[in-house]
Amino acid sequence: MMIDTHCHLNDEKLLPEADRIVAEFPEVGIESAICVGYDMPSSEKAVELAKKYAPVFAAVGIHPHDAVTADYDKYDRLAELSSSEKVVAIGEIGLDYHYDLSPRAIQKGAFREQIELAQALGLPVILHVREAYEEARQILYEMSSYLSNGLLLHCYSGSAEMVRDFSRLDAYYAFGGAITFNNAKRNVEALAAVPRDRLLLETDCPYMTPVPLRGKTNEPKYIGYVFDKAAEVLGIERSELEELTTNNAKRLFIRMK
Ligand code: NI
Repeated sequence: MMIDTHCHLNDEKLLPEADRIVAEFPEVGIESAICVGYDMPSSEKAVELAKKYAPVFAAVGIHPHDAVTADYDKYDRLAELSSSEKVVAIGEIGLDYHYDLSPRAIQKGAFREQIELAQALGLPVILHVREAYEEARQILYEMSSYLSNGLLLHCYSGSAEMVRDFSRLDAYYAFGGAITFNNAKRNVEALAAVPRDRLLLETDCPYMTPVPLRGKTNEPKYIGYVFDKAAEVLGIERSELEELTTNNAKRLFIRMK
């Protein structure tokens, strides 16, 4: 059985289909999925979905794109939402210098605040980092004493060399559809460099649809393509990879039973 450690059933593309998508989990081999928030409405929705569906868990947080909307009232609300046992992490939070939708100084501020919040709540963090790996590394090193509940680099797109740097923080790494793409050499090299006991897989649906389904809306059930590719890269059996990544997810996300 597989765990989709990053999906957005709270996205308007998937939300109307949530009943069907979750009902299909057993037949497509999915044990559970983490629905990840990226702003306040999507975080609220993620918690609602997690309360409604037994195999769905939630993460709550403010994405770097929305960092301009963050304030202390919102951090308080994230803390309240996290009182639900089904909230397994704070995220997705981080830095995105590709789109720069919030000014970089504001992205950094919201990133730091939410790392502190996660530590206070005893939760791990799910990080979204794009074209800002060195800047994120600096902040994480500075704040390493706030990361004792663990960190996950979602949709890891840093280099294989940087895996060494993040592994000093005992980071987990998640890979998705990007490893199936034709130009995936860098991602595949990074995947191969990750310590096996720190590896997770995800869909990031409705985005990042894997080959051969490019052009379709991504769903948790397509995570099998990601598992097949990762098993091929690592030279291990698919069943072994499922067991490994499930164990890793439950070690990091201690509220997942
Ligand atoms: Ni995401």
